[in-house]
Amino acid sequence: MLSFDEYRSLINEHLTDFIPETDSKAAVLRESMEYSLRVGGKRLRPVLLLASCDFAGGDIMQALPYACSLEYIHTYSLIHDDLPAMDDDDLRRGKPTNHTVYGEDIAILAGDGLLNTAAEVMTGEVVRHAGEPEIMARHARAAHEIMSRAGIRGMIGGQTADVKGEYMEASADLVRYIELHKTADLITAPVRAGLMLAGADDSMLNDFTSYALNTGVAFQVLDDILDFEGDEELIGKKVGKDQDLGKCNYVCVHGLDAAKQELHSLTGEAKRSLEKYGNDAVFFTSLADQLEIRKY
Ligand code: IPE
Ligand code: IPE
Ligand code: MG
Ligand code: MG
Ligand code: MG
Repeated sequence: MLSFDEYRSLINEHLTDFIPETDSKAAVLRESMEYSLRVGGKRLRPVLLLASCDFAGGDIMQALPYACSLEYIHTYSLIHDDLPAMDDDDLRRGKPTNHTVYGEDIAILAGDGLLNTAAEVMTGEVVRHAGEPEIMARHARAAHEIMSRAGIRGMIGGQTADVKGEYMEASADLVRYIELHKTADLITAPVRAGLMLAGADDSMLNDFTSYALNTGVAFQVLDDILDFEGDEELIGKKVGKDQDLGKCNYVCVHGLDAAKQELHSLTGEAKRSLEKYGNDAVFFTSLADQLEIRKY
């Protein structure tokens, strides 16, 4: 296994390698896609994909196109999330949001472009392995996992509940649905896809799914806490947005103290899911600890 920083360097080095050539007539589209990809970001999701594949004995270079595709999907979700019709944000990853630089028309298309490129890259990998049925099946399963958790039962469904939640009666049940789908699904997808690429068995998949779902919900609970009391300079996005928009998030429904307790308890649950792997899973258990105390 490599360190988080080593996996992240690999991703940053190859992040745009898989995007197909673009005609000069669409140059601004390419520029706008690369702007949001390159402007920053923790790369948590693609790192999780490489690390999970590595943990289960897979080849991380074969997993790289999937890791980058996951970051394309995550970045598209942020570009669209920031649009005036959604959260109307002008700061992301410490820089002006995509639509403030390129306009709403190009920002929408850049999001579409990133999502479609992810599907194109992953299906391209499946096709490339057509001569090796067993490997091809692993790739197809990983691609389906990523597209379905990013889809209408996953991230897009969660985002829908989130935007409509502004005007609805906030409830614990609604907040949990939003956290699970808008965020935890895109953190669970890379973990499961990485394991699937390596051909991991169902028992390992189940343990790591529990780890990832708990880590993913904890990640959003802390995002909600940071929106309430974070440092704008550090998080690189506007604070207090959820309150301004009257969002239904964990802090508004349960309060700040309960949110911090929930963050700690979900982190503990995530680590317990991997107890049987002992020190072998230390990358994942220490990552859960680091994510609990992150400031951005
Ligand atoms: C932001 O995700 C969106 C949420 C699901 C809260 P990250 O906090 O991982 O954003 P980047 O990729 O580091 O910018
Ligand atoms: C967005 O949630 C999650 C996505 C799927 C993009 P938020 O709206 O809370 O994310 P931030 O706070 O703008 O990063
Ligand atoms: Mg949002
Ligand atoms: Mg937002
Ligand atoms: Mg937020």
